[in-house]
Amino acid sequence: MKNFNITLLPGDGVGPEVTRAAQEVLHAVAERFHCRFTFDSHLIGGAAIDATGEPLPAETVAACKRADAVFLGAVGGPKWDRGPRRPEQGLLELRRALGVFANIRPARVYDDLLDQSPLRRDIVADTDFVIFRELTGGSYFGEKQRTDTFASDQCLYTVGEIERIARAAFAAARARRGKLTSVDKANVLETSKLWREVVTRIHDADFRDVKLEHALVDSTAMQLIRQPRAYDVILTENMFGDILSDEASVLGGSIGLAPSASLGADRPGLFEPVHGSAPDIAGRDICNPIGAILSIALLLRYGLKQEDEASAVEAAVDTAIARGARTADLAGELGCQAMAETIADELLRAAPRASYAQMHWG
Ligand code: IPM
Ligand code: MG
Repeated sequence: MKNFNITLLPGDGVGPEVTRAAQEVLHAVAERFHCRFTFDSHLIGGAAIDATGEPLPAETVAACKRADAVFLGAVGGPKWDRGPRRPEQGLLELRRALGVFANIRPARVYDDLLDQSPLRRDIVADTDFVIFRELTGGSYFGEKQRTDTFASDQCLYTVGEIERIARAAFAAARARRGKLTSVDKANVLETSKLWREVVTRIHDADFRDVKLEHALVDSTAMQLIRQPRAYDVILTENMFGDILSDEASVLGGSIGLAPSASLGADRPGLFEPVHGSAPDIAGRDICNPIGAILSIALLLRYGLKQEDEASAVEAAVDTAIARGARTADLAGELGCQAMAETIADELLRAAPRASYAQMHWG
């Protein structure tokens, strides 16, 4: 029997609740596909600061490196606003330690949830794109300075850093609808000028069959609302990707639905819902676990290379939504755990379906 070692990092706020939900679904996957998942759970973020003083204890990093894949719930919260170390530093250090430079954030709109979108149905219907966000460079990781009178965050990108994320995004576009929009601020920023040059060079050398367009980030923020269907793969740097992916996540009605995968050259990948720790609703069993559960689908697909299992989880989410299962963010009544159980039940009930994986990593 196949056995996979999964390191769980529940973190803060709703993190532990969605992590339990994710585990529930993996139990159902194990039962249906006759495989086994072995879990170990470790501290990160505010929970780690409270227990050890550090947002990312060395022991957590070691456990992640040993795992076949890592699942993270969420980090952060107002409780740690005044402390010397912030919970978010733990997540950033972990991304860096695992070398997960490619953050993949699919944005898909479910037909059954069109009424939940803040945008008109005719604008959002059939939206289906994926953001490739560079995750280990740019102003998040550049040199930082702070005095009483100034502060600075250096934004630095090397050619190599741009090349590797560009290749991953072009390969994904080739396996989807063949269009890539590279987003930058090349009318102002030096890093963006380099970004544009490198992306164009990679395209002309190896991906001429993919249609490449360059777009400015401010205009993209607008176009994402005006015509989200126009996008297939969006490729962008760390900070722009952070902002655009939150914007993209509400097209489908709730950020609670959005999953992400963070991948590097070698395993393990890091898989987490796009939403944050949502301290205002934490501990009440009302958050939406679907973003976490769809992150488990990405974990199965990209982290463990188990495509049938990944597609089955996605199909179970589709069916649960089609049958009307809704959490509070989607004007429904189901709690977090009940939603996870509903999806796990669908997984066990459903006959295997044709896979609808549209992305390749490579
Ligand atoms: C995200 C989050 C993180 C980021 C925070 C929590 C550091 O917003 O994953 O999008 O900015 O990358
Ligand atoms: Mg973000």
